[in-house]
Amino acid sequence: MRLRGALTGAVLLALAAPVVAVAFPAWVRIPIIKAHKATDPPEASVFSHFAHNQYQCSACHPTVFPQARKGFTHDDLDAGRFCATCHDNKTAFSVDTPGVRCATCHHK
Ligand code: HEC
Ligand code: HEC
Ligand code: HEC
Repeated sequence: MRLRGALTGAVLLALAAPVVAVAFPAWVRIPIIKAHKATDPPEASVFSHFAHNQYQCSACHPTVFPQARKGFTHDDLDAGRFCATCHDNKTAFSVDTPGVRCATCHHK
């Protein structure tokens, strides 16, 4: 009985590891919650987990972002929230940094 319990534990651990890996998408398309006009970039902003892998998950979750595709707007960024927690022209380029193209974030 004791041996069987240990084996079950090992099987559960082996099953749990890949589930964690799958739950971590390489990139997330931020949902559009405020319409893009005809003159604006058509694509919603993309966020790459891969391009931010210098950070622990806890740098962003759950303080800066929920672990869900929830969405926010440029008004939020202008107020220093969400991406602009870091993309503030100090830690990283901001939306208004000269030379930063809209397509840096808004691309297919
Ligand atoms: C640092 C990344 C980043 C850059 C650079 C950026 N945006 Fe955005 N933008 C976002 C995010 C995130 C959203 C929210 C999701 C969405 O609607 O794409 C957004 C939303 C928008 C929206 C939806 C309406 C609103 O007010 O939120 C428009 C329009 C827009 N961006 C235009 C632009 C234009 C034009 C540029 C270049 C001058 C630009 N963006 C540069 C990240 C960026
Ligand atoms: C630099 C910030 C940042 C870091 C670090 C980060 N994330 Fe995220 N994560 C985001 C953003 C932004 C979103 C999308 C939020 C939104 O759309 O409102 C997101 C979304 C998610 C989602 C939801 C995806 C979906 O499709 O619904 C999961 C799950 C997630 N992250 C897991 C992780 C894990 C696990 C780690 C650590 C290995 C991690 N994140 C590290 C910024 C980050
Ligand atoms: C915890 C801090 C942090 C948050 C939050 C964050 N970023 Fe970044 N991001 C960085 C840093 C640091 C870099 C590297 C800056 C550089 O190279 O100048 C970076 C780089 C990038 C790049 C360039 C990637 C490349 O391949 O070179 C893009 C695009 C980007 N971030 C978009 C976003 C968007 C969109 C959000 C919000 C959904 C976001 N980031 C949230 C810190 C952050």
